[in-house]
Amino acid sequence: MLLCQISDLHIKANGQLAYGVVDTVSMLERCVQRIRTLPQQPDAVIATGDLVDLGTAAEYGLLRELLAPLSQPLYLLPGNHDERAALRASFPDHHYLNQCDPFIQWSVDDYPVRIIGIDTVLPGSGAGQLCQQRLSWLDQTLSAAPDRPTIVAMHHPPFVTGIGHMDKIGLDGIDGLAKVLTRHAQVERVIAGHLHRSITARFAGTVASVCPSPAHQVALDLSIDAADQFVMEPPGFQLHWWSGSQLVTHTACVDLAEGPFPFRENGKLID
Ligand SMILES: [Fe+2]
Repeated sequence: MLLCQISDLHIKANGQLAYGVVDTVSMLERCVQRIRTLPQQPDAVIATGDLVDLGTAAEYGLLRELLAPLSQPLYLLPGNHDERAALRASFPDHHYLNQCDPFIQWSVDDYPVRIIGIDTVLPGSGAGQLCQQRLSWLDQTLSAAPDRPTIVAMHHPPFVTGIGHMDKIGLDGIDGLAKVLTRHAQVERVIAGHLHRSITARFAGTVASVCPSPAHQVALDLSIDAADQFVMEPPGFQLHWWSGSQLVTHTACVDLAEGPFPFRENGKLID
């Protein structure tokens, strides 16, 4: 099984650039094209929030068009830039979005690894929240299939990253989530977004990871006083490959670089 994760697309309508700089529409087009031409096609694609920038119907309509070339099943989660109602309205055929109303939480059981999406949105805030209702749903959903390897996906990562201005809009409810996850050893990974960088941390007996953005990345400044800034580092996405016994994650660049070049000639390393 190969799961492709994209995150923090921040699509804007009417040709607007994000923060006056980032052409998020053309950058997602490039990312979709890259995914379509991967040598191994993913079985599914998951988008872990900040799908659009302002949560408008026009943005979600454009997002739908941009993601349409993907042939795989697509699973969506909201981030702090999203609006649940507008997201649902633009993807009415995505019935899984209604499994846990009012929250957008869902489980998908169609693959060797079960995928559970969790809603960390706190409306009106950049920060995230996991309330008791959401955590109870997660606990019950995990209890229903204790022997199935599982990925738990959400927008806000469940750890402090060191990038001060992002940690100020971090996740409330991390301890509660840790209590739930430590009861369910089948959780192979917590995958998240929000940070627009590739980040990994040990968490609650599993591994928690953050996917880079196909658009802008948050500046790498591990200071509590880090300025609220982004950089145009190479855009990326992730491929989570299930080996049959282990989840292995590859971070991929959207843009192709020079190569590939051979290591060997006539069976010998090129000197
Ligand atoms: Fe974002």
